[in-house]
Amino acid sequence: MEAFSPETIQLSPDESIIIRLLDSTDAPKLTTYFKGLSAETRSYFAPHSFVEETVRHICRTLNPAEIVRLIATSADNQTIIAYVLLLSGATPSDAVRYQALGIPINVETDFSIAPSIADAYQSRGLGNHLMKKALTIARAMHKERIVLWGGVQARNIRAHRYYQKYGFIEVGQFENDVLNFDMCLTLSEMNNG
Ligand SMILES: CC(C)(COP(=O)(O)OP(=O)(O)OC[C@H]1O[C@@H](n2cnc3c(N)ncnc32)[C@H](O)[C@@H]1OP(=O)(O)O)[C@@H](O)C(=O)NCCC(=O)NCCS
Repeated sequence: MEAFSPETIQLSPDESIIIRLLDSTDAPKLTTYFKGLSAETRSYFAPHSFVEETVRHICRTLNPAEIVRLIATSADNQTIIAYVLLLSGATPSDAVRYQALGIPINVETDFSIAPSIADAYQSRGLGNHLMKKALTIARAMHKERIVLWGGVQARNIRAHRYYQKYGFIEVGQFENDVLNFDMCLTLSEMNNG
């Protein structure tokens, strides 16, 4: 299906990148990607363990019906520069919180998003391209709403603005070590940034 096809994006006049689904051969590149993330980026993005064995297991057992794993790579396909998860439904702890907010999660129509971009590529427009691809895939999979996987930390101003730009609205707050916002986006013909 076209929504899942690789796309070549011109990030700047002299740099093109590819956005595509993670595939079974990507484990070494994905491990390298995680190793290169700064402590700050890791403090914002931690949907699963980044150890090599976990990454190999993920690449061996890809199942887009459960989790779509989008990546961006350099044009030569040597380096992963972004990794975005789209989980059908929500994690158990997110689902419990949304239930308490009066927003029951439906695995058929809800997606949970967790985006990450390599430090050197942040704030250069890649997040916009990734969100557009995520929205296209969400519509193709008949999703009606996108929630934030694990919420967004209040101190993560950039991500908060990023979600607001696409029309995500705050529906709740919770604290673990830090203050977080739950935000969600109801899909419509809008939300294209
Ligand atoms: C959050 C993230 C995905 C955004 O992607 P990005 O490529 O950096 O963002 P873009 O350059 O495409 O910008 C998209 C929007 O984000 C916001 N934004 C980006 N950089 C920003 C900055 N430095 N300050 C404030 N807002 C910023 C703006 O709203 C921007 O819209 P605009 O281009 O119309 O101004 C990315 O920065 C990232 O991976 N950060 C680290 C991990 C993380 O925080 N993940 C989210 C966890 S909830």
